Amino acid sequence: MTNEGILEARLDKDAVRGVYTVIAPIYDFWALLTEVRARRRALELLAVRDGESVLEVAVGTGLTFVEILRANPSGRSEGIDLTPAMLERARRRVARDVPSARCELSLGDAYQLPFAAEQFDAVYNAYMFDLLPQEDFARVLSEMRRVLKPGGRLVLTNMSKSDRWYGELPELLYKVSPRLMGGCRGVVMAPFVEAAGFRDIMRETVIQAGFPSEVIAARRSP
Ligand SMILES: C[S@@+](CC[C@H](N)C(=O)[O-])C[C@H]1O[C@@H](n2cnc3c(N)ncnc32)[C@H](O)[C@@H]1O
Repeated sequence: MTNEGILEARLDKDAVRGVYTVIAPIYDFWALLTEVRARRRALELLAVRDGESVLEVAVGTGLTFVEILRANPSGRSEGIDLTPAMLERARRRVARDVPSARCELSLGDAYQLPFAAEQFDAVYNAYMFDLLPQEDFARVLSEMRRVLKPGGRLVLTNMSKSDRWYGELPELLYKVSPRLMGGCRGVVMAPFVEAAGFRDIMRETVIQAGFPSEVIAARRSP
């Protein structure tokens, strides 16, 4: 599976913020229909151990972040997101589901992570690269690499491409209007992850309700 034919990203950062402000109240429903399986697999591969430093980039409404917190009660857990409405939902979810959690949730941009170098044992990111222009992948991956400790774990999941006939449906909807797909189109991240200085790269495809996701696990090379 390659990035041949990857569609152009059609929402800039302000438009992304606008779309996710509008869909924040219904995002969890969409995620339940199309993303639960990939998210579960990504968490398995992230394999958070208590006491670690873990960062989730683009934490959204906190669907996975609360699972990270449950696995890491005495460690350091940080989450950032570009959209205040999504972050506010994540804050409410944490307060409701893991009230004793030690964590920080902040507004932030994946292009310029607000952390010093080599801070985290693991970085997790879901359904964000499928929103970004392909020409920005290297820059954002290099930020993730910068904040990871050498040997640290990176786990990504994204809307992806599939050889099955129904794999065309999400792309078709995106062509009609990117907003129908929350701005997401299929991407294949493994070649970019390798070029950004990661090793031991593993890629799986998980299909739910006809929507293909990829799950990628890798380690930062020293
Ligand atoms: C499809 S949602 C995924 C949310 C969450 N990761 C999940 O899997 O449930 C995309 C999220 O990416 C965030 N996002 C998009 N561009 C970003 C950027 N440059 N930096 C940080 N967050 C970003 C959006 O605000 C939105 O919350």
